[in-house]
Amino acid sequence: MTAAAPLVRLEHKVAVITGAAQGQGAAEAELFVELGATVVLTDVNESAGREVAQRLGPSATFLTHDVTDSAAWQRVVRETVQQHGRVDVLVNNAGIYRKQPLASWSDADLRRLLEVNLLGPVLGMREVVDAMPDSGGAIVNVASISGMRGHGGALAYASSKWGLRGASRSAAQELAPRHVRVNCVCPGSVDTPMVDLSVLNLSHLPIPRAGTTGEVAAMVAFLASDASSYCTGADFVVDGGATA
Ligand code: NAI
Repeated sequence: MTAAAPLVRLEHKVAVITGAAQGQGAAEAELFVELGATVVLTDVNESAGREVAQRLGPSATFLTHDVTDSAAWQRVVRETVQQHGRVDVLVNNAGIYRKQPLASWSDADLRRLLEVNLLGPVLGMREVVDAMPDSGGAIVNVASISGMRGHGGALAYASSKWGLRGASRSAAQELAPRHVRVNCVCPGSVDTPMVDLSVLNLSHLPIPRAGTTGEVAAMVAFLASDASSYCTGADFVVDGGATA
C-alpha cells in the first residue's frame, strides 16, 4: 500500500528563520505560524524583526542575530532549545544583494557579501544539526536563479548563491543518515525591498511579472514540512519560468 503524502502542515515544528524582519523571511514566518509552527525569527534589523514577531502573535519570537557570527548562531540555537526543546527546521533566508562592476568591489565588501550569503548558511547548518531531534529535521537554503546561471554585474552575488547550492547538496548527502533533509529554493525576481522592480523588464517571462513573497514562502513551507519527505539535495525553482 502506498501512503498518500500529507498536506503541508507545520504543527509541532519549531523553526528558525533568518532574515525574517522583512521581505521573504517575514512572509515565511507568517505562513509558518499560519500552518501551526512555532517560529523564531532572526535578523540584524532588531526593530523591524521585533515588530514582525509581535504582529504574528505568541507562536513567534525574535532574536537579534548576524548570520556571519558563529557565537550568535550558538546563542540562537541555545535559546531556541531552552524555549522550545529543539529545532526541527532551519530556513537560511538572510541575504544581501549588490550589483556593481567586479573591478570596483573592495576586499571588505566582497568578503561581507560572501560571508552573509554563503558562510552564514554554512555556519547555521553546522550549529543547528545537534539541536535537531533523532527523528530528523529540514534545512531550507534560499539561493537564487543567479546561482543557476551567470549574472553579469552581480558576480559576487551569483558566486555566493552557486556556492550555497553546492553546500546544500553536500550537506544533504552528509546529513541524510541523521534524517536531516537539505534543499534549496531558487527564486527569480521577487517583490521585496531587495530589488528595484522598476528597472527590471519581466514582460518576457512565461509568467510576466515578479513573484510575490507568499509564492516563495509556499515552496519553503513545503520543503520544511513532512509533505516533502522524499526530497533532499535538490533545487526548487520559483521564477515564473525565467529559467525554462
Ligand atoms: P530583503 O532585503 O527584503 O530581506 C533580507 C533580510 O536579511 C533583511 O531583513 C536583512 O536585514 C537581513 N539580513 C541581511 N544581512 C543579514 C545578516 N548578516 N544577518 C542576519 N540577517 C541579515 O530581501 P529578500 O528578497 O526578502 O531576500 C531573501 C532571500 O532571497 C535572500 O537570500 C536573497 O538573496 C534571496 N533572493 C531574493 C530575490 C528577490 O528578487 N528578492 C531573488 C532571489 C533570491
